[in-house]
Amino acid sequence: MTTPPKHLQPEIEAKIDALLSQMTLLEKVGQLTQLGASIVGGFDFTAFMENPDPELLKDIQRDFHEDWIKEGAVGSYLGVQGADEINRLQKIAIEESRLGIPLIFGLDVIHGYRTIFPIPLAEACSWEPELARQTAEIAAREAAAAGLHWTFAPMVDIARDARWGRIAEGSGEDPFLGSAFAAARVRGFQGDNLADPQHLAACAKHYIGYGGALAGRDYNTVEMALQTLYEIYLPPFAAAVEAGVATFMSAFNDLNGVPTTANRFTLTDILRGQLGFRGFVVSDSNSIGELVTHGYAADRKDAGQKALQAGVDMDMVTESYRWGIPELVETGELPLEVVDEAVRRVLRVKFLLGLFDHPYRSDAKMESATQLRADHLEIAREAARRAIVLLKNEQGILPLKENIQKIAVIGPLADSAFDMLGSWSFTGSYKNAVTILAGIKAATEAEVLYASGCETNAQQPEDFSAAWEIANQADVVVAVMGESARMSGEAASRLELGLPGNQEALLKALKATGKPLVVILSNGRPLAVPWVAQNADALLETWQLGLQAGPAVADVLFGAYNPSGKLAATFPYAVGQTPIYYNHPNTGRPAGDFWFTSKYIDGPVTPLYPFGFGLSYTTFAYADLDVEVDAAKITIRANVTNTGGLSGEEVVQLYLADPVASRVRPVKELKGFQKILLAPGETRKVTFELTHSSLGFYDAELRYVVEPGQFKVWMGPNSAEGLESEFWISRELLLG
Ligand code: GLC
Repeated sequence: MTTPPKHLQPEIEAKIDALLSQMTLLEKVGQLTQLGASIVGGFDFTAFMENPDPELLKDIQRDFHEDWIKEGAVGSYLGVQGADEINRLQKIAIEESRLGIPLIFGLDVIHGYRTIFPIPLAEACSWEPELARQTAEIAAREAAAAGLHWTFAPMVDIARDARWGRIAEGSGEDPFLGSAFAAARVRGFQGDNLADPQHLAACAKHYIGYGGALAGRDYNTVEMALQTLYEIYLPPFAAAVEAGVATFMSAFNDLNGVPTTANRFTLTDILRGQLGFRGFVVSDSNSIGELVTHGYAADRKDAGQKALQAGVDMDMVTESYRWGIPELVETGELPLEVVDEAVRRVLRVKFLLGLFDHPYRSDAKMESATQLRADHLEIAREAARRAIVLLKNEQGILPLKENIQKIAVIGPLADSAFDMLGSWSFTGSYKNAVTILAGIKAATEAEVLYASGCETNAQQPEDFSAAWEIANQADVVVAVMGESARMSGEAASRLELGLPGNQEALLKALKATGKPLVVILSNGRPLAVPWVAQNADALLETWQLGLQAGPAVADVLFGAYNPSGKLAATFPYAVGQTPIYYNHPNTGRPAGDFWFTSKYIDGPVTPLYPFGFGLSYTTFAYADLDVEVDAAKITIRANVTNTGGLSGEEVVQLYLADPVASRVRPVKELKGFQKILLAPGETRKVTFELTHSSLGFYDAELRYVVEPGQFKVWMGPNSAEGLESEFWISRELLLG
């Protein structure tokens, strides 16, 4: 098991006490200060964003404030890369500062370091947490070999609004699925022992409620009932604590009027008091300084005091602690114990990482030998193909048949290596990515014709003639459409959720040729694409699959792999439906034919594709649902059969509902899933065992309760279908 900070180790606590007793106030505040590797000198960021060639990064001059290291006035850096550079700075700390306390170096290693894996939302669609653990482990191996100690990942924010660009970084809309991936990624990054030099300290972020931003606009205000906070947004963070996560990151947003970076209720009462977290909390970048902008702090000193007293231990890059805390302690406005407790938490993680014994965890030779290994790329391909969701497949047009002579590959994302990496992939290089076009060419004997057809997001009409021309020559059109990598991720909220630019117009032109039309989506969020869903003969959601996008898409397109992905986030029919999610209350007037019901007058209330939806090249049938209740557990069983002609994997999903309760409950909630491989004709009995506690919820007084009565249960292929049954739990049974 990971050495979780949750369970204190006496020998480490003794070392912390001994060190703390020697530290000056400046040295203590230094441990709470993280500096960015600030760029000085002429670096053209705009040019870099246009051509994100990693080679350009080599010319950057940075100011590391080495003098602060010698004074013991800095304890961490964000953004430093390379074992040599990290060791150089570490050496100053170890050999030239008074106490020789090692620095901790952190970076955003979100879905890969050099080997870039699918974006986290894509990985969640595999419904295979173990795969996510493996990719996190590889990311840690490569990043640790590059000298890093700490990643600002996993991002575990629940997201119910596809307008929010950071939905790409998390595991979608459901707390049960999100918790499984949060725990898996923590275990992947941290391994069984934080002191293992091939692992990193992980960071559960952004605590808390960040994904609930009003109108899907990043950094926007968040208002929600505490029951919603506890039932929907907190579980993945709680799962991360249970998995032993070493650090947390506070968020940018205010929550019910109190910024989360200065929110004592969430940071101390819940996180430490209720969840028992013993690691440390770092602020988000500048989020302490932004307490002034929020209107919650008068100035940077006030902001620093509020953040530290609320429970933010380390200040990411604002220097608010450096310049404000010593004076506050000296004037008696801030108790020294508050500072000492924060320093204790930071030192605890540094000791758990083994940095005092082994401050130099890698070197340039180890670094270069570890990056982009063949076994890493193989896992990247496996993770990518398992993330792909088959949304439509009319007349079994897929997998493409061997008698096809000519394939027209068309679309602005077909040959774009950079866009395959998705957001938060700056440590990787698009030069190592295989495009979808290249993947298709390598996988078929057929002649492959190509035209981009249009830009990703052009704002004027475009000439489709070249694309139209090759479509008419081909036996099948494979159109690769969607979003550029920069259209999702941080600060990338969208007002619309359709295909950007002229992409849909191009698809309509291609449809008009009468050729079979396979549409491949490459995007960082659910899209509202009803025309595509209606008119494509086949539709694959491939997200942004990382370096091995091309081979993975080709594996599915030509049948080397039977797609098994299921949506981890609802696809809206229209942006007007957002936020939209499956686990919603019923309301008193659920949408119906009667005029006075909860509906839209200009479109459906049902989504384009529901949470948990995904097809296969084979088919599955569910039968014999059976529920057994006893004093200890509820056992739910059903038989699942592969009724098609190909082996295939099915994600069997278990949903529950509490139709009568002291607070209205969702129409259903995910309570279990199992991904099973079935040969043609094979039947498997699938069993779930639930504790009574899993039937509970937070009541009006915020108490966690399980109420007796009727419960409904579904077992099926997604959140909208499945065998249904019910069971009763008596008060006596609950009282056991
Ligand atoms: C960013 C992001 C956060 C990231 C941090 C450091 O603004 O919000 O996810 O870890 O800054 O790069």
